[in-house]
Amino acid sequence: MQIHSSIADLRAALKGRGRVVFVPTMGNLHAGHISLMTQARAHGDTVVASIFVNRIQFGPNEDFDKYPRTFQADCDKLAAAGVDVLFAPTEADLYPEPQEYLVEPPAIQNILDGEFRPGHFRGVATVVLKLFNIVQPQAALFGKKDYQQLMVIRNMTRQLALPIDIIGGETVRAEDGLALSSRNGYLTTEQRAEAPRLYRELNRIRDALRNGETDIAKLEKGTLDALTAAGWQSDYVAVRQQSDLSMPKGVDAPMVVLAASRLGTTRLIDNIEI
Ligand code: PAF
Repeated sequence: MQIHSSIADLRAALKGRGRVVFVPTMGNLHAGHISLMTQARAHGDTVVASIFVNRIQFGPNEDFDKYPRTFQADCDKLAAAGVDVLFAPTEADLYPEPQEYLVEPPAIQNILDGEFRPGHFRGVATVVLKLFNIVQPQAALFGKKDYQQLMVIRNMTRQLALPIDIIGGETVRAEDGLALSSRNGYLTTEQRAEAPRLYRELNRIRDALRNGETDIAKLEKGTLDALTAAGWQSDYVAVRQQSDLSMPKGVDAPMVVLAASRLGTTRLIDNIEI
């Protein structure tokens, strides 16, 4: 696996490489990331991954400084997964001057996660567009665990007519159902044992809807209350339309139930499509 930190070196390395498939990450790779790398192989000739902890998508009180950085272990995993090229820029490589031109997503950036993480999706969209311009892939993969992020990137790619296929990868879970996430590493042993409750609660809402329940507000409140009773502090539990994350008009359109909740200081997100 080639590793490049400079934009010029990466561009030179990707010349004549056929169809390039790109998987951007912030490192601290787990089986969810590796599953995206493996899927990427089926979509092109050259698989490019990136590792960059993107300061501009973190709020001032978020975990940018403590975000786990495990570069050598990540390189070993990527090489074992058959990734051809890793782009691992420093902040000076990617942001040699203050990033003043920013991608401003529309109103979707202010709902759900965006309501609780102001500016987050602006930072994500900006770095992803910049990475797309650097790598110039024909396809890119993102995990469905970050459902709203995937939608922001899909919509940006379509509206800006970027010639890139955006592919969503299914969420990979631990045996007890907890969605794999780099932030799971922050959990204490006790919190880790409690954490799968989030997925169980999302399933409970899905089952109730499948069984004919139509009172969405009641279902959301039931889950919020159950999480609170178990010691969680929730930002939101929301049933939304898959198409645009708006509130469902009824219960017939494809829906997704999403949640963000904290155990201690660790914020977990999850979702399931219905
Ligand atoms: O999902 C992530 O890891 C990040 O948000 C991404 C897409 C790599 C942008 O920094």
